[in-house]
Amino acid sequence: MPMNATKFIWFNGELVEWERATVHVMAHALHYGSSIFEGIRAYATPRGPAIFRLQPHIERMVDSARIYRMPLPYTPEQLAMACHEVVRANELTSAYLRPIAYRAFGEISPAPKNTPVEVAVAAIPWGKFLGDDVMERGVDVCVSSWTRPAPNTLPTMAKAGGNYLSSQLIVMEAQLNGYVEGIALDSSGNLSEGSGENLFLIRNGIILTPPLTASVLPGITRDTVITIARQLGYEVREQTIPREALYVADELFFTGTAAEVSPIRSVDGIVVKAGGRGPITAEIANHFFGLFTGETEDQHGWLDYVQ
Ligand SMILES: Cc1ncc(COP(=O)(O)O)c(C=O)c1O
Repeated sequence: MPMNATKFIWFNGELVEWERATVHVMAHALHYGSSIFEGIRAYATPRGPAIFRLQPHIERMVDSARIYRMPLPYTPEQLAMACHEVVRANELTSAYLRPIAYRAFGEISPAPKNTPVEVAVAAIPWGKFLGDDVMERGVDVCVSSWTRPAPNTLPTMAKAGGNYLSSQLIVMEAQLNGYVEGIALDSSGNLSEGSGENLFLIRNGIILTPPLTASVLPGITRDTVITIARQLGYEVREQTIPREALYVADELFFTGTAAEVSPIRSVDGIVVKAGGRGPITAEIANHFFGLFTGETEDQHGWLDYVQ
């Protein structure tokens, strides 16, 4: 059994054993990248496992399907229920959830005619993406030689399987060169995002992040962090940011469901002015992680407790 495998996967409306949730080699998605998916975390809280911001994740999945004209055979409510079901059926206390919808086998053609859409939701046990020391110290990253998809090429508002070919090029290159991650620029040469994370910069107490027009995924953690930062009294600006702003930032961090709030220590060998995780990043991260220990009040109903 592969690492992290669980007992059950929700597959086309029912729970099936992990080994039985398989895809045919002639599936449209395998040949043409036609899948859309989500990455969601369930955290262990004092009140049991809670799915973090399930609603916006389901909404983004529905939006991704709309962009690709992919008819989803399940309602948002059914998809949300499926997320609860896989955590419960696998008796997970914390988890990474992976809902996915894809075009299965129909015809050999990019035009998805007579191609059924299949849906699955898997959940695997998953702890931290980066270790505790990294969360303190920050990661060393580079600017990628690969540019994110230009506007009106591949829509980056959709979380689609095919988009992750770009992510693979970015992260493989970065890691071959000894970095943890790469930051990609958009087609204008301004900052976009990491291969699987949104990007934040802090300078003179102001928090900046590239806008959605910079070919970024509208990250749920990005939205969470913007909300938290404003609540803490910080000014947050979504604006076009030049590459060199990375080299003069006081603090830098990534956000993502997997990465959570991950400080960046250096870019292209230039260490951030804070020298590692800076004080504002730490304040936001503590507030964020406090949601799961109960130290931060869940004012927005972000925790969806697994029944
Ligand atoms: C390309 C990309 N950008 C940003 C993110 C962060 O998005 P979220 O916070 O919704 O996980 C992800 C991860 O899902 C991603 O794959």
